[in-house]
Amino acid sequence: MNVELLDKPLASIDAELTITFLTKDSLDDHVHAAVLKQAGFTADQDQICTLHEHALIVCGIEKTGTDHLRSASAYVARSIAGFKYKSAKVQQYFLKNTQPLVEGFILGSYNYQNYKSEPKTASLETLYLASDSFNDETIPFGELEEAVNSAIIVSNATNYTRDLVNTTPQDMNPQDMSDVAKKLADDNNLECTILDESALEAEKMNAILSVGRASIHKPRLIHVAYKPENPKATISLVGKGLTYDSGGLSLKPAASMVTMKMDKAGACAVLGMLKAISELGLPVEVHGFIGAAENMVDGSAYKPDDVLTARNGKTIEVRNTDAEGRLVLADVLSYAQDTVNADFIFDYATLTGACLVALGPYTTGMMGHNNHLKHKFQKAIGNSGELTGSLPFNDHLKKLIKSDIADICNIGSKPYGGAITAALFLDHFITDEMKSKWLHFDIAGPAYTESVWDVNPYGGTGAGVRMSVSFIKSLT
Ligand code: BES
Ligand code: ZN
Ligand code: ZN
Repeated sequence: MNVELLDKPLASIDAELTITFLTKDSLDDHVHAAVLKQAGFTADQDQICTLHEHALIVCGIEKTGTDHLRSASAYVARSIAGFKYKSAKVQQYFLKNTQPLVEGFILGSYNYQNYKSEPKTASLETLYLASDSFNDETIPFGELEEAVNSAIIVSNATNYTRDLVNTTPQDMNPQDMSDVAKKLADDNNLECTILDESALEAEKMNAILSVGRASIHKPRLIHVAYKPENPKATISLVGKGLTYDSGGLSLKPAASMVTMKMDKAGACAVLGMLKAISELGLPVEVHGFIGAAENMVDGSAYKPDDVLTARNGKTIEVRNTDAEGRLVLADVLSYAQDTVNADFIFDYATLTGACLVALGPYTTGMMGHNNHLKHKFQKAIGNSGELTGSLPFNDHLKKLIKSDIADICNIGSKPYGGAITAALFLDHFITDEMKSKWLHFDIAGPAYTESVWDVNPYGGTGAGVRMSVSFIKSLT
């Protein structure tokens, strides 16, 4: 599906279907108000009404705000997926709504069909936007073009991340993920380095190696770099890439194991961010570091009671092999900090079920030492459509990961505050210099969904991509 912005009025665009968003206040002014009301349309948020005889689809919005339009636009996209129209045109409101409207449409149109024997394809080929359809605002066409272009790049990168997350574990093991990264690097002119098992051994990365040892697919560390000329800042993005998390010997119950192909969502989001940032051509140097491994069971599996020496020399008592993501990140964070001297280091991980308990399934848990940076991030992502909630560190929780036999333990000694104790574990692998530059994002809640919400379809959502691109844009 293409999105095309035309420098002419909406009325003069020839399209088979018209899409209109209406608030309760604007409903009465609509030419078809009477018929719409007769059909039971009340302009509630995301309520849809189609008048095929007028080739019109309307969708209710509570306000003409960015979040409302993005969500409504996604609902329209999903509703018309089965229609036969080849072209549609949409009425906009304000410039600030152009990007959410286009994002909502592209993200809402996403439908993963790769494993269907008879994949469905949508009829809609083109969505037209006009240059005139703004209430009283006159917007320079160049600004509109930029908003549309940016929305297309960010949404396509989000859908790319969704595709990777949705790919099943038999088709996406650590080597497959390395191939995906190499292809992205080739396509987008990025640098790419892959550390295989022997390179990980040479780096003394015993934590990631132990997690991946029981799998026939050995771990990889993937480094992808985007290096524009004269960058305004340098940022390292680290992703948890568990291509499957069975729990290991601390085996997950059957019901909890289903969906664990999503345990690579942090890594997939990092690749999506690199795709978007390189296509936008942002003047920021971005390094993606991915720890790819499969947490499995066999005679060689790492065990509860093992003590692992991580790359930075710290020793870790394993008490639960299902708390494997933090072990992988420990080594990758250490490697990332020694390889690149960055202004910021952010990590993304489907790290804990506890984060879902704390914040619900829609919100990313944001953790770190620097409150100013957390505020800066939250402010920069205001209109991105993603939600974050800050979970605070404290010294009492820090004590819960002390170990009697090693330096630290990979789980907390109490069953509460698990999202924070996991982050405090990672903190042991952040150097003093980087402490104030580090943020940890636990995306266990929003990365994957089995029921449609907002712009998100069933499956991978691409959580992390939109918000992080917004933050990186704010550095330029
Ligand atoms: N990948 C899981 C976390 C997870 C759970 C992500 C649910 C998405 C949805 C992680 O590796 C894990 O198993 N964590 C354990 C930690 C526990 C053993 C301390 C958890 O959350 O139960
Ligand atoms: Zn686990
Ligand atoms: Zn995991």
